[in-house]
Amino acid sequence: MDQLWLVAGLMFVLQAREGHAQIEPLVYDEQLLWVSGGAGEVNTYRIPLLTFTSRGSLLAFAEARKHSSGDIGAKFIALRRSADKGATWSPTYFIVDDGSMADGLNLGSVVVDEETGSVMLIYSLCFHLYQCSPSSTMLVESLDDGLTWSAPRNLSIQLGVKSFAPGPGFGIQKRYDPSAGRLVVCGHGNIEGDGVFCILSDDHGRTWKNGAALKSIPYNQPKQNLDFNPDECQPVELQDGSIVINVRNQNNYHCRCRMVVRSLDGGETLPVEELVFDHTLVDPVVAAGTLQKEGVMYFSNPANSQHRVNMTLRWSLTDGRSWESEALQIWQGPSGYSSMTTLVGNSVEDKKYIFVIYEKGHREYIETISIAKIHLYGGR
Ligand SMILES: *[C@@H]1O[C@H](CO)[C@@H](O)[C@H](O)[C@H]1NC(C)=O
Ligand SMILES: *[C@@H]1O[C@H](CO)[C@@H](O)[C@H](O)[C@H]1NC(C)=O
Repeated sequence: MDQLWLVAGLMFVLQAREGHAQIEPLVYDEQLLWVSGGAGEVNTYRIPLLTFTSRGSLLAFAEARKHSSGDIGAKFIALRRSADKGATWSPTYFIVDDGSMADGLNLGSVVVDEETGSVMLIYSLCFHLYQCSPSSTMLVESLDDGLTWSAPRNLSIQLGVKSFAPGPGFGIQKRYDPSAGRLVVCGHGNIEGDGVFCILSDDHGRTWKNGAALKSIPYNQPKQNLDFNPDECQPVELQDGSIVINVRNQNNYHCRCRMVVRSLDGGETLPVEELVFDHTLVDPVVAAGTLQKEGVMYFSNPANSQHRVNMTLRWSLTDGRSWESEALQIWQGPSGYSSMTTLVGNSVEDKKYIFVIYEKGHREYIETISIAKIHLYGGR
């Protein structure tokens, strides 16, 4: 029996080296992490984020909106933690409480520093400037794998005051040059001053500076339908060291599909020459998930040009230049924001799974937040 498993394992490794032709994702397990409208102090859970820590835990975060489902209003940041690769989850901890702010916190980007093991969560306060000013970019940090969290630190002191909503999703730590080791967190501005903006740290999150910008047109002016308006986004690093950012196309400029832009200098610039529109990635204007694992790019969104329904996983063997024709439908009903992560490690198990966390409902997508464990090789 052991020998058979060994042979199976070896074949798996050989196949994986030869290429990715056998990628055949299926939903292996699915659990609801949060249900809105329940008892207690929370009206609605939204904006799920997910990461895998360098010590091997999964951390899931969401906005716990206290009084309504709206983007403004007071909130907690909710966290659930899994120390057994997603089999079981801790109860919900509220790690940040914004009190009773009229325009409270908004998530957010989670970024793990592999060298220090630190997990940082960056979010905004007063993003919409509704009955408050200015907007602040805040950071909380855990040095013990998500068990305890620092008091919030105000990054606007270093970055300057500006409406900046990180993510939603994860930030990256560059593995390849240029700027290996750098933390890169990208997000967007407020609707008039919208665009994709990245902030960078070269000292493990101690100090941050402003990096690349891809500004909306007309910038800092009211927008019309079909204007150029890059919004919520998710960066990933390719093996050549470039950063690809998959972006919400807020005003449906050029297509009802995703914008993709690339930085060749470690997140310092986003040249317009590197901007493309991915017509395969049809999108209803939403935050979507992107992930790079072992040379394969994955993309999750509600794949429908009009409505937030049909949560779908796609995969690309060409770093997103083309997509395989098959796709995995994760949920046909109402589906909203999504984010992904992967196990990292050398065991066969670690190579087999990715996780998609997403807003899922029967009548409305804001009813629950669900996490799907995806087996990449058809259950083999
Ligand atoms: C964060 O720092 C900025 C710049 O100093 C300041 O204007 C803002 O009020 C601070 N925000 C918070 C929540 O303390
Ligand atoms: C769901 O997504 C798939 C893959 O993109 C697509 O073929 C299908 O038409 C979509 N269905 C709906 C109802 O949006």
